[in-house]
Amino acid sequence: MRRNYIVGIDVGTAEVRVGLGEPRPDGSVGIIGLGLSPSDGVRKGVIVDLDKTVSSIQRAIEEAERMAGFKIDSAYVGLKGLNIELINNRGVVAVTSDDREIREEDLERVMQATKVVALPMDREIVDIIPREYIVDGFDGIRDPVGMLGVRLEVDAIVVTSLITSLHNLMRCINRAGINIKGLVLQAMANSEISLTPDERELGAFLIDIGAGTTEVALFQHGKLQKLSVIPIGGDHITTDLAAGLRINHEAAEELKKVHGTAMLSMADGEPKIEITSVGSREKRMVSEKDLTAFIEPRVQEILQIIKEEMVKMGWPHLPPAGAVMRGGVSLMKGMVDVARINLESDQVRQAEFDFDAVQNPAYSTAVGLLYYAQKHQPRMHVFERGRPTKKRGPGIIQRIKDWLSDIVE
Ligand SMILES: Nc1ncnc2c1ncn2[C@@H]1O[C@H](COP(=O)(O)OP(=O)(O)OP(=O)(O)O)[C@@H](O)[C@H]1O
Ligand SMILES: [Mg+2]
Repeated sequence: MRRNYIVGIDVGTAEVRVGLGEPRPDGSVGIIGLGLSPSDGVRKGVIVDLDKTVSSIQRAIEEAERMAGFKIDSAYVGLKGLNIELINNRGVVAVTSDDREIREEDLERVMQATKVVALPMDREIVDIIPREYIVDGFDGIRDPVGMLGVRLEVDAIVVTSLITSLHNLMRCINRAGINIKGLVLQAMANSEISLTPDERELGAFLIDIGAGTTEVALFQHGKLQKLSVIPIGGDHITTDLAAGLRINHEAAEELKKVHGTAMLSMADGEPKIEITSVGSREKRMVSEKDLTAFIEPRVQEILQIIKEEMVKMGWPHLPPAGAVMRGGVSLMKGMVDVARINLESDQVRQAEFDFDAVQNPAYSTAVGLLYYAQKHQPRMHVFERGRPTKKRGPGIIQRIKDWLSDIVE
């Protein structure tokens, strides 16, 4: 018998990870399969080689399928792109039922109404995240279904992506034999498992430092408020280390993960790490401090850029609940300590991760996607534009007319 399942796929710069879960009657998800495969075709969060990415996705999926003991054909896919932008927009509709009670259909229509934004031709809408509903002028409503009203408004974040990078991602997932059930901002999925409800409410930054990208997301009043993705991450640290010590990239990556320290004062000065220079067979001994000499400047630069993004978002100091760090680079020894100094606050912590006995933090986004999908059941919002259809897709004017007819009725 076919089992009921939810799948989350995280196509990261370092690896593709797949989480396969089974919804439980209490609304939670049990993890029944995991898969991970090196991501050969992704640079700085963007797919640069379709074939290699398809193979990576297939390998990760097969691993999760083997563990669960059945085949999968649909999934939720995470988005952490440089090409993502958020637009704040409002949608307004009249409540249509005779008794003026707001129903699910009204919510759907008001969400559709937020899609009326002037988009450049190279972008499209991938998701709509409601921030608050407003019923007959009363704001701050989180769930208006069942309330009485005449005019329903929503204040929402419209998530847009560059068409090319988005379609490359969608094409790779489809070519790996998977239907996309929904595209989910990774920041949303990660906040589900990495931030507490109090942190989301009071205000906190969620900082995800991956291999190719660093994402800074601000949550407050229970919602995502701002998002910024910068093309810098752990790969840059590895490159600096490789160049500095004259060792190859793979060796530098390994060395960084095992002995890397983000802060000089925390690094050991004893030369007990053996390395081999490129083009030589001779081995030499270096200390953690020798590594940190090449790691620390880049870590400082990353934190400086994070700080600048926070200032741009209107937060020269951390919000009341501080900042939570996640992503592979945040695991480096001393990383949270350096971040506390740079962000001038003790309220910086590492995201915890232990869900259903999944202990490898690399899976956290894939698992976060599952939890998010189970709770919110996100839908596919992407338009037909640019899809490989026989006929040309409708132009922008036609699309606006379609939305309007949807809204006005
Ligand atoms: N213990 C560790 N110490 C230092 N760096 C680490 C450690 N573990 C992982 N990393 C680094 O973290 C990066 C991978 O992080 P992560 O898995 O979050 O990235 P990703 O999701 O694949 O990439 P992105 O989100 O940028 O697309 C790599 O650069 C890796 O070297
Ligand atoms: Mg990532």
